[in-house]
Amino acid sequence: MAITRPHHVIILSILLFASISAFAALVGGWTPIKDLQNNHHVAEIADYAVSEYDRRSGAKLKLVKVVRGESQVVAGTNYRLVLKVTDGSKTQDYQAVVWEKPWEHFKNLTSFTLLH
Ligand SMILES: *[C@@H]1O[C@H](CO)[C@@H](O)[C@H](O)[C@H]1NC(C)=O
Repeated sequence: MAITRPHHVIILSILLFASISAFAALVGGWTPIKDLQNNHHVAEIADYAVSEYDRRSGAKLKLVKVVRGESQVVAGTNYRLVLKVTDGSKTQDYQAVVWEKPWEHFKNLTSFTLLH
């Protein structure tokens, strides 16, 4: 078979290496989420982040708005969102990271930290 000839193997190796590099650049980079205010899925992720934080901590924060958002392709997608939330008296910004694997219906709040 032609494919076993040495120079074909070299070309294949180069192509494979180039694809892996391109894939590595795609996976792992944080990309800003476009059209944030009209993105229903991001709204869902944001609601989940705040309610999950409240459930774990006993706080009673409510989402005011998603200020900023980026996503990262991993085994699934990481969402890094800046959320404006209120406890009823003061309004503050938090950064939430949610990891989602949609095909497993899996979501987890990885971090939820106050921004100053
Ligand atoms: C979800 O994330 C938290 C915080 O990083 C971690 O402690 C917990 O083990 C994770 N749960 C699952 C099911 O991955």
